[in-house]
Amino acid sequence: MWKDWVRPLVRPLPQWATIALASPQQVVTATLRWDSSSADVTVDHTVASLNPLVIATSVDAGQHPVLEYRDNESGKLLGALHLVRDASDIGATSLAFYRVASGDHHCLSVPRRSWNAWLQNRMMRKNRSSNGLNTDPVAVQQLMIAYLCPKPVVLVSVNTDGHQNIFPMDLIGPLDRRGYFSLALRTTNVSVPILREARRVALSHVPATMKQVVYRLSEHHKQALTDWSALPFAVRSSREFGIPVVAEARRVQELTIVHSQEIGLHTFFVCRVVSDETGVHVAQLHHTAGFHQAHRLRRRVPFAEV
Ligand SMILES: Cc1cc2nc3c(=O)[nH]c(=O)nc-3n(C[C@H](O)[C@H](O)[C@H](O)COP(=O)(O)O)c2cc1C
Repeated sequence: MWKDWVRPLVRPLPQWATIALASPQQVVTATLRWDSSSADVTVDHTVASLNPLVIATSVDAGQHPVLEYRDNESGKLLGALHLVRDASDIGATSLAFYRVASGDHHCLSVPRRSWNAWLQNRMMRKNRSSNGLNTDPVAVQQLMIAYLCPKPVVLVSVNTDGHQNIFPMDLIGPLDRRGYFSLALRTTNVSVPILREARRVALSHVPATMKQVVYRLSEHHKQALTDWSALPFAVRSSREFGIPVVAEARRVQELTIVHSQEIGLHTFFVCRVVSDETGVHVAQLHHTAGFHQAHRLRRRVPFAEV
């Protein structure tokens, strides 16, 4: 059909793909390279802030490392971020923070790559006020590269005497070597002051089939939940803290917050895992970059989109 041929010429790829994937993901490996050293950071790097775009890791990789994302099956380099050490990393946690200086990906052919980026950037500039990221198109292109490692989506539950809430997050992840788990949350989120004070939170790793309801709960980034019983799914109490969590979660983790700091528009919470329960064995909701899915489609091994 001529339309299938013309569409990629005039319409950008979607920035994000929402996919169903077994967790922890095994499709992409992330490696930090610096001087003549390298370290596998698949479970040891996370986005700490979107604006500026900052990556946190336990690994001290010098001043100018490169973060590479490689497909595990083909060995192909999917993309890379060029990083610069950020001076703000001094803190109780000894984590290293890196600003993203530039990035490139290899998921599309050379002409299509630049053309698609141009189309996406034009659309982002047009819809700037509604893109929800509050950041410039170049940083969003770099963020999409960071999403080459598919990011699991969780529902974060907060419960204190005066405040209850549940909202989706994907800027999360383990910082394995130091035994931390981090959350990067927009400082405007209504639960941020409560989290700073209560220092406890529970994560429900959600089945991919819950996509619609999970997206609807993003309204709770702005307003707290009034009643746990009003949720359209069953909840149960988490093991140690008794915080309401998704009864049919794939996995439930309880975290204590040991450190928090503002980075740009986000508050970066550094946590320790207190409990980790495995639930139902189903595919988890994940996000990856749209150009990653386009690459998989071309290889005839697409992710299952939901
Ligand atoms: C699946 C999903 C995951 C999200 N993950 C995060 C996150 O990790 N951190 C964050 O600050 N906001 C996260 N958000 C919230 C949105 O980025 C956004 O802040 C929220 O929807 C309010 O947008 P607005 O302030 O632009 O209207 C997530 C939203 C959804 C639907």
